[in-house]
Amino acid sequence: MYRKTYAKINHNILTDNIKEIKEKYPDYKYYIGVVKNNAYHHGIKIVNALKEGGINYFAVSSLEEAINLREYNTDTPILILEPIDLDYVYDCIHNNIAITIETLEDIKILDQMKFSYPLKIHLKLDTGMNRLGFKKRKELEQAQKIIYENPKLQLEGIYSHFATSGITDKQWDKQLECFQELTKNINLSEIPIIHMGRSLTLVNHPKIEFCNGIRLGIIMYGFSQSKKNPTTLKEKLRESKKHHIQKKLQISETMTENELNLKTAFSLYSTVMSIREVLKDELVGYNASFKIEEDSYLATIPIGYADGVSKKFESVIIHNNTYPIVADTMDMISVLVDKSIKKGMEVEIFGSQIPISEVTSKLDTNAYHLFNQIQNRVPRIHITNGEEEEINY
Ligand SMILES: Cc1ncc(COP(=O)(O)O)c(C=O)c1O
Repeated sequence: MYRKTYAKINHNILTDNIKEIKEKYPDYKYYIGVVKNNAYHHGIKIVNALKEGGINYFAVSSLEEAINLREYNTDTPILILEPIDLDYVYDCIHNNIAITIETLEDIKILDQMKFSYPLKIHLKLDTGMNRLGFKKRKELEQAQKIIYENPKLQLEGIYSHFATSGITDKQWDKQLECFQELTKNINLSEIPIIHMGRSLTLVNHPKIEFCNGIRLGIIMYGFSQSKKNPTTLKEKLRESKKHHIQKKLQISETMTENELNLKTAFSLYSTVMSIREVLKDELVGYNASFKIEEDSYLATIPIGYADGVSKKFESVIIHNNTYPIVADTMDMISVLVDKSIKKGMEVEIFGSQIPISEVTSKLDTNAYHLFNQIQNRVPRIHITNGEEEEINY
């Protein structure tokens, strides 16, 4: 690493998170780890830590991501969540990759193709998200019939995706009903993997009886949004409002006490690159946007908005003290410090002293967006049992 800016990814935390999830929710056969976009930007190398915790299937967005994942994991099955160009299905067979099929037309095309080995297919149903999937029962049934009659097509799974948490809305229940209606003439017990839920489904609803798979994304990375029983007056009021809405809308049962002990594995650091003394009334940064109020010191840190970090992060930690970010540029931020701060000191952007939840609230965003905004140009230091390996993705 030449530029001293890096993300640390703790593999032991990820493994422990999966073990914790499986211990609290043991009733699934397939724990499908969603590792799209370079594993929510943690770095795809984490797949082995996830597998060690108990993930036994992976899901990605594209064939590129699936083939890249195969380089890190040779045996765990992989599902591509988006439909692919059918010209490339041979690459999928060759790499033991299952594909998503969402239209009858695609099944008809596959039926005409010649394969030496069976192609694994998951049929995706559109139950209300209106993004991808079969919407008509007859077409779904016809697709299933074609697959069952062709020995080179293997129906490995059937799935859908929930648009909402279903805590204070009826959409979740409607999607579940829609799935049951679409599949009412299909014997689900003949299909190896049925998966509808994502992280929010796992923690907020009782297990859907006929689903034996669950797709885990953000929860693996330490964010469960699981609720504990309300203790403060504010929490109790919120809970009672929620119950009122649930009753009014006749929403199905949701679980309130499902506290998971999860940690975040992703922390972000840089280093003090330059220090300058500044005097009262001097100006800092582009557009001379910050005015120094009293004589002090400025630290220039090599991380900027091209890495995903800006003035909106508000502060950093250096040597256990909090200092404000007063200016940002594409590659650097300026931090107002004191005399104790020296060139070469480590700077925490978020990690053990600035929790991710604090940053997301400052940025008015969520963990999905925050992880995805930390760019791949920041090297990932993967740490397993204290051993570090730097990977530039
Ligand atoms: C189809 C599908 N399943 C599962 C997930 C994982 O969702 P989450 O991170 O909320 O668990 C995603 C994420 O975007 C998705 O698109």
